[in-house]
Amino acid sequence: MPSLSTIILGTGSYAPERVLTNAELSKMVDTSDEWIRTRSGIRERRIAAPGEATSDMGVQAARRALDDAGVTPAEIDLLIVATMTPDLPMPAAACIMQHKLGLPTSAACFDVNAACTGFVYALDTACAMVASGRYRKALVVGAEKLSTIVDWKDRTTCVLFGDGAGAVVIGTTPQPDVGLIGTRLGTLGESVDLLCIPNGGSSVPATPESIAAGSHFMKMKGKEVFKLAVRVMDEAARDILEQHHLRADQISLVIPHQANLRIIEAISQYLELPLERFFVNVDRYGNTSAASIPLALDEARRAGRIQPGDLTLLVAFGAGLTYGSALLRW
Ligand code: COA
Repeated sequence: MPSLSTIILGTGSYAPERVLTNAELSKMVDTSDEWIRTRSGIRERRIAAPGEATSDMGVQAARRALDDAGVTPAEIDLLIVATMTPDLPMPAAACIMQHKLGLPTSAACFDVNAACTGFVYALDTACAMVASGRYRKALVVGAEKLSTIVDWKDRTTCVLFGDGAGAVVIGTTPQPDVGLIGTRLGTLGESVDLLCIPNGGSSVPATPESIAAGSHFMKMKGKEVFKLAVRVMDEAARDILEQHHLRADQISLVIPHQANLRIIEAISQYLELPLERFFVNVDRYGNTSAASIPLALDEARRAGRIQPGDLTLLVAFGAGLTYGSALLRW
């Protein structure tokens, strides 16, 4: 069988209607627009409606990606949802989405939890499965309702996160050297404590006391995460460029995980690549975890920032700590 390239056939994204501004947040916790903007670059974020689950946002993004690709739900035989905020602890959000999207019952559907790196992990998994020839067309979705795991009384975290979704449709082409050129994934499991939800899992199940103490919400050591994020994103970007004998200036657009503008600026300096080559929308959405890269990718494509022949670099880090990069040629 001739080898096929796995390519992105279409992209889509969705952001909930409700905009939560820094000014509103400064009435909820002891913070200010100035502090949030200068420390993170975030001006506002979206918050899902009370009845709007992760799968609902994922479905909206997926429908837009299918439309963009000109692919029908009946053609999809693989759905991978990257999320750490599934609708239910079990089963997977992908199962709920399979039904809502009307995907065939013969489709394989599962979630991937690699926190904010989730989309890059899911993309790599989906492309490998499609490249094997055993699956034909895949949907890869990043969707998060982080507003449900954020402690709205903790100013050190609640100002940073938002809700949203992004999706891509994966298919194949006989054309060589296009689509997913390569990935470089990694994990620093010794750093779990830097960013985690301490209670509510199998090691420390939730109790009325732990819930009263807010231990079922996300906890973060921001400064340590910041330093590691810069280090591992730089490493993931450099490694993949080296593996493919490329220089940073051959990348037309970097789509970094949108956690903090200062992290993106640091990567831009380390790679000696001007900030104009980085797509940034953290100002409008904050950190949407696994949704951040596919949301940014869709906006970049629709804004005409990605053209045929371009090389795009995705680079992410997240709780775990997980990190990774992916190289795409269009
Ligand atoms: N508003 C006002 N003051 C705040 C605040 C807020 N929302 N949050 C924290 N502060 C205070 C702190 O209490 C601290 O006060 P102190 O000096 O009196 O102790 C001061 O501001 C500085 O806090 P610090 O943590 O040193 O700020 P920072 O410059 O490191 O920025 C983050 C904080 C969280 C923005 C930054 O560390 C960061 O972005 N880290 C990475 C987080 C991330 O990306 N996580 C997601 C991973 S996918």
